[in-house]
Amino acid sequence: MASDTDAPVVVGVDGSEIALHAVRYAAREAAYRQRPLRIVHAFIWPMMRVPLGPAPGAPADGGLRNQAERCVDEAVAEAAKVAPEVTVTGAVVDGAPAAVLVAEARHAVEIVLGNRGLGGFAGLLLGSVAVQVSAHAECPVLVVRGEARADGPVVVGVDGSELSQEAVRYAFEEAAWRGTELVAVRAWLYPTPAGPGDILPLVYDLDAFREEEERTLAEAVAGWSERFPEVPVRRLLVRGSPGRALVEQSRTAQLVVVGARGRGALGGLLLGSVSHAVLHHAHSPLAIVRKLRTVEGT
Ligand SMILES: Nc1ncnc2c1ncn2[C@@H]1O[C@H](COP(=O)(O)OP(=O)(O)OP(=O)(O)O)[C@@H](O)[C@H]1O
Ligand SMILES: [Mg+2]
Repeated sequence: MASDTDAPVVVGVDGSEIALHAVRYAAREAAYRQRPLRIVHAFIWPMMRVPLGPAPGAPADGGLRNQAERCVDEAVAEAAKVAPEVTVTGAVVDGAPAAVLVAEARHAVEIVLGNRGLGGFAGLLLGSVAVQVSAHAECPVLVVRGEARADGPVVVGVDGSELSQEAVRYAFEEAAWRGTELVAVRAWLYPTPAGPGDILPLVYDLDAFREEEERTLAEAVAGWSERFPEVPVRRLLVRGSPGRALVEQSRTAQLVVVGARGRGALGGLLLGSVSHAVLHHAHSPLAIVRKLRTVEGT
């Protein structure tokens, strides 16, 4: 696992108001994490072979390249207002937005995006850049949706998988910084195989499975609870679909956290079905967690 104390929080901007909202959110994240903030605008126009400078006779600050620079400058100024203690840099990087941001994610501690951008497709819950980056980024992706509320718990989905453990850790960090409660949610419908080749009995004792689920949930948070004793933890066992349970919890949450993959059997899948449901339907900002970048000694 990469260990890099200088890795920044990266946020993508496209000149939209939603992206600026993401910048304010990212500035606070950088402050909590004591990381620099890097603001990136992916500038696709050079690939389209169109003129980038001001038109002949037009003001010198016109043209697409200047407009891109202004979008980044505006975002840098906004971040500095929200978190003056954070070192903020901005960059216009030539390339297609998702490709540029996925490349940025290789060196980032996390990447923050708005759920929508400048694209005009009415009613779309998630823009194409947000979809692609959530699926492909190597670091955690935080998608800012709706009004960021300062109250309410941090909610995390627990399924006992390795990545859900990373999600639990991320959620504890976020809850500690925000000084709020952590709600660990485990939703289950039927007994599920623990792994490939695991054969389930045809007849089972529901109470025994409920106890098993309770144990999985308790074990998933126990270690981290010791590391973050200041974070109050509520464990919530729900009989129902995990995606639905987490989306429901997001109505009152500050942030919902899920691992990118669960225990599902489809190898190679980039996003599990629960992560997918939360990504598209959560009412609050949400984080999709992959391997966390750790600081030496943590
Ligand atoms: N050119 C870009 N450079 C950097 N970040 C971007 C760029 N475009 C989008 N983003 C980031 O991705 C977020 C989601 O925007 P996205 O483009 O996915 O939505 P959209 O514009 O509504 O949809 P679409 O582009 O698919 O029509 C934005 O809020 C912003 O954080
Ligand atoms: Mg867009």
